[in-house]
Amino acid sequence: MSGDFLLPREGSLEDPIRVAVIVSGGGSGLAALLQYQATPRTHRTALVLSDKADAGGLQHGIDAGLPSLGIPLPTKTGAKERRVAHEQLINAALEEHNIELVVLSGYMRILTPWFVSRWKGRLVNIHPSLLPDFPGAHAHRDVLAAGVDVTGCTVHLVDEGVDSGPILAQIQVDVHEGDDESALQERVKRVEHVLYPKTLDILCSGQISL
Ligand code: GAR
Repeated sequence: MSGDFLLPREGSLEDPIRVAVIVSGGGSGLAALLQYQATPRTHRTALVLSDKADAGGLQHGIDAGLPSLGIPLPTKTGAKERRVAHEQLINAALEEHNIELVVLSGYMRILTPWFVSRWKGRLVNIHPSLLPDFPGAHAHRDVLAAGVDVTGCTVHLVDEGVDSGPILAQIQVDVHEGDDESALQERVKRVEHVLYPKTLDILCSGQISL
């Protein structure tokens, strides 16, 4: 694998990796991670960010007493400039809070190479399919349309592509007859809520080498 991924240092229970979780939606994954981190771990959430000022997920951070910021896209610039300006604001918040690892948890925007290059190796995502199958924003819909029997979820380091980068962990989930998107999403989320925290344990305790 490519050598340009700079992995996080080895965290410890006394000095855990400082994590920022970035969400776009309800943040059930964030809630599960915060619950997991209620016991000392090698990673600890220090900041919650969202591209939506009213994202339900921000409330989980607020309830946990964490700095929790909505950073919407700036409105005044052109489309390309707006994306980079937005990520500059996010990056500034990450630096201000001395963040060491960025955890995307239902973040529905594609990050630019500008941002990825700054965080590569310390930028992790969960996607609700068995990548490289069914990347993109509508994984469950695409899984159902394809008629496959098995789907799942994938935790991976983020590179410059869409839902690509070194895979850290995957779990399979059966597709049931009669599943709709919502039923499938809920079943996959239950598995995600176990897989993501455990994979962060592995990543933050120096057990991954690329
Ligand atoms: C999760 O299923 C996650 O895998 C997915 O969004 C959901 C967020 O749920 N992420 C993506 O689709 C990223 N492309 P949550 O807001 O309840 O944690």
